[in-house]
Amino acid sequence: MYFGIRSLIDETDIGSRFDFAAVDMRDLDAVRAAVTSKRTGLVWVETPSNPMIRVVDISAICKIAHEAGALAVVDNTWATPVLQRPLEVGADAVMHSATKYIGGHSDLMAGVVIVPHSSPLGRPLRMVQSHKGSVAAPFDCWLALRGLQTLSVRVRAHCEGAQKVAEALASHPRVEKVLFPGLQTDPGHDLAKRQMSHYGAMLSFIVKGGADAAMAVAGRLEVVARATSLGGTHSLIEHRASVEGAKSKAPGGLLRISVGLEHPQDIVDDLMQALGGTFKAAAE
Ligand SMILES: Cc1ncc(COP(=O)(O)O)c(C=O)c1O
Repeated sequence: MYFGIRSLIDETDIGSRFDFAAVDMRDLDAVRAAVTSKRTGLVWVETPSNPMIRVVDISAICKIAHEAGALAVVDNTWATPVLQRPLEVGADAVMHSATKYIGGHSDLMAGVVIVPHSSPLGRPLRMVQSHKGSVAAPFDCWLALRGLQTLSVRVRAHCEGAQKVAEALASHPRVEKVLFPGLQTDPGHDLAKRQMSHYGAMLSFIVKGGADAAMAVAGRLEVVARATSLGGTHSLIEHRASVEGAKSKAPGGLLRISVGLEHPQDIVDDLMQALGGTFKAAAE
């Protein structure tokens, strides 16, 4: 679950209105144990996850939720509707931060909740939207609609770039691990192959030497910008543990990249020079 959504539960009144359990959803038995027909109203799924890029089985989890009479909602922000279509495999609702790939140019803040036409959720959601005032401004809607026109071509290009970046990072001696389902060695590879039409463009890698080494790598980058957010034309990198703060479970050496639409070789070259620097510094 995206850290910000977890913060809404932990730190605002939303969380005080219901009980909440977090489980590693790669383990379907753990999901079954957490979901009970008496108590569970909603199961929240996010895949691939942030920042560990783990892939979970949407269809299997929806089935477990439905057997217990609960709703299943998928945060599909990272996969986008181009790569993954949760409503078709059983989800009751899909959520997107349209700030990311749908807007696509890092100049919009918006969100989308999608339910099937026939869903009884449609009316109450509309009521919440109109009566509680979470209505996007006309210009933001215009930007979202313009972004949608190029979404499928952008996402394909993002994915091709990410694959090249992941492969280059995986062979670098200063990189402990690359977390990306497009790599055949990734534990999520087979499931992602089944569930997604491509592997996405978000990846994380763990730099040998921990947080200081990772920060130094991020600081040397010239093409890839240091910033949170994702899904825009520019490649962005962030040190996730610093962004999330003291409660973060992200490994200290982890850097997360949103692979943008620059020439993939430019991104690879930039990462290689930044990692090379770490290598030299460590040897000095
Ligand atoms: C998976 C996921 N869901 C939701 C959000 C929240 O999006 P917004 O910033 O548009 O509120 C983010 C933001 O990073 C995200 O990565």
